[in-house]
Amino acid sequence: MKTMVSPSLLSANFIDLKSDVEMINKSEADWLHMDIMDGVFVPNISFGFPVLEAVAKVCTKPLDVHFMIVHPEQYIEQTAKIGAMMMNVHYEACTHLHRTIQQIHAAGMKAGVTLNPSTPVNVLEDIICDVDMVLLMSVNPGFGGQKFIENTIKKVHRLRKLIKESGSHALIEIDGGVQGETAPRLVQAGADVLVSGSYVFKSSDPCATIHNLKELKKK
Ligand code: DX5
Ligand code: ZN
Repeated sequence: MKTMVSPSLLSANFIDLKSDVEMINKSEADWLHMDIMDGVFVPNISFGFPVLEAVAKVCTKPLDVHFMIVHPEQYIEQTAKIGAMMMNVHYEACTHLHRTIQQIHAAGMKAGVTLNPSTPVNVLEDIICDVDMVLLMSVNPGFGGQKFIENTIKKVHRLRKLIKESGSHALIEIDGGVQGETAPRLVQAGADVLVSGSYVFKSSDPCATIHNLKELKKK
């Protein structure tokens, strides 16, 4: 299976978002990753529903929405309404994660659970069969362009083992510091979907960069 790629809009040109979304539409990207931040769960604020809605109208790729906010359960209906395919919520932000996952499914979306770099994968043992994806943060969430945290490779191996042993069908997505050097190692370790912000949007040929990421194959 080819590697799936979900470029992160956070590194796009915000004064001309339409051109960047059209570039994504034309590219081989599988999804479009959108980062919602609240300045509370993470020390930064990105964009919210007005931007999400506007992008949803022109984007032909499924939307992979990453909520870095407290109480993401309050926004499930609103996210479903704009037609998002995947709603990713942080394990660290959900007191009743099982209920939140059920509510995301009931709203007609796929459910992803996200782990911060310091959260071990074994906390997912009792929820892994209920989620469609696990999003491993390979940087501390809040900003694009940060350095990849090397321990993520070990976490991908551990998560792959947990998924296999539990009979779960969850995909593994990685977010943060994904570039030419880290991407092949992540795929080898068992990653299915790569989020990439600055590496894609700051490259001279973003479509070719997306193509190259997609060509990475597991051994
Ligand atoms: C960071 C966001 C990422 C970000 C990744 O908190 O969740 O999606 O855009 O940016 P890069 O790929 O530049 O590390
Ligand atoms: Zn993200």
